[in-house]
Amino acid sequence: MHALVTGCAGFIGSHLTEALLTAGWQVTGVDAFTENYPRAVKEANLAGVCRHPRFRLVAGDLATGPAASWLEGVTHVFHLAGEPGVRGSWGERFPVYLERNVLTTQRLLEAAEGRPLARFVLASSSSVYGAAEGFPTPETARPRPVSPYGVTKLAAEELALAYGRERGVPVVVLRLFTAYGPRQRPDLAFHRFLRAALAGGAVEVYGDGLQARDFTYVSDIVSAMRLAAAAPVQGEVLNVGTGRPVTIREALDLIEELTGRPLAVEYRPRAAGDARRTAADTARIRALLGFSPRVSLREGLRLQLESMRA
Ligand code: UGA
Repeated sequence: MHALVTGCAGFIGSHLTEALLTAGWQVTGVDAFTENYPRAVKEANLAGVCRHPRFRLVAGDLATGPAASWLEGVTHVFHLAGEPGVRGSWGERFPVYLERNVLTTQRLLEAAEGRPLARFVLASSSSVYGAAEGFPTPETARPRPVSPYGVTKLAAEELALAYGRERGVPVVVLRLFTAYGPRQRPDLAFHRFLRAALAGGAVEVYGDGLQARDFTYVSDIVSAMRLAAAAPVQGEVLNVGTGRPVTIREALDLIEELTGRPLAVEYRPRAAGDARRTAADTARIRALLGFSPRVSLREGLRLQLESMRA
């Protein structure tokens, strides 16, 4: 088993890379080390694997690099690279999202076509649901993204599915619901809240704090990816979440409890593009992959806090 992991130095990519190596895989990891957060942080994400004999790191950009040569000998693709971040996708940064989420995905799919691949796993996002019609949201719900980011992730999904239907690429699309845990991206809510809790600063809450997220611990996301790589689920779109959303206020209460310290909260205007609620209907992934999340929010936050302390 030889995986190509794109975005291998990122939050989820580095955990997936580690898990695959531990399970005996060979891993080619590609990362462009884009500027959205410091390169040193991404390099640190790879500290545990960079000297592993079955790991090869390619510092390269999917937008321009020799994707075909990166796919040599690869049996499974895990495409995680992209431009993340919901709230920053408006305005003049949109072309960056378009290139990193849509055009690079098309380029990789094109390079993947005709190869003896067992699976092409695309990391998509709960943000494709946007103003969802109902909760928990099943994969069959009509996607109604409320951010340009969500639109690019939906476009990437549709591209992957088209390459699956017409060009034989064995794709599976996973809609990941707000991942958290050790090495979480520095711009994400829990990272910011825990950093403030540890440093004694104030947290900023966008809107009334009653927006809810189906926060999913990173090892559960990695398990879902590995299951999707192994099961006969070509052409499927699957939610990866817990089905148990919590509000930002509830999450802050839990953080106060875990740190034993009150948090100073500053309320800011609601951010455009922010979904009011996300909640995964997990019936399909349970049925097709036997997946069920194992890590509770309390335990996951405790582990993230512990790693940030260290
Ligand atoms: C996250 C990721 O940024 C996306 O890449 C991913 O695709 C998406 O999850 C997903 O689930 O699909 P988001 O839900 O915005 O997006 O994640 P957080 O940054 O953890 O934000 C959660 C909530 O906390 C949002 O309502 C946000 O407005 C709020 N928030 C965030 C604050 O109130 N204060 C902050 O400092 C940060």
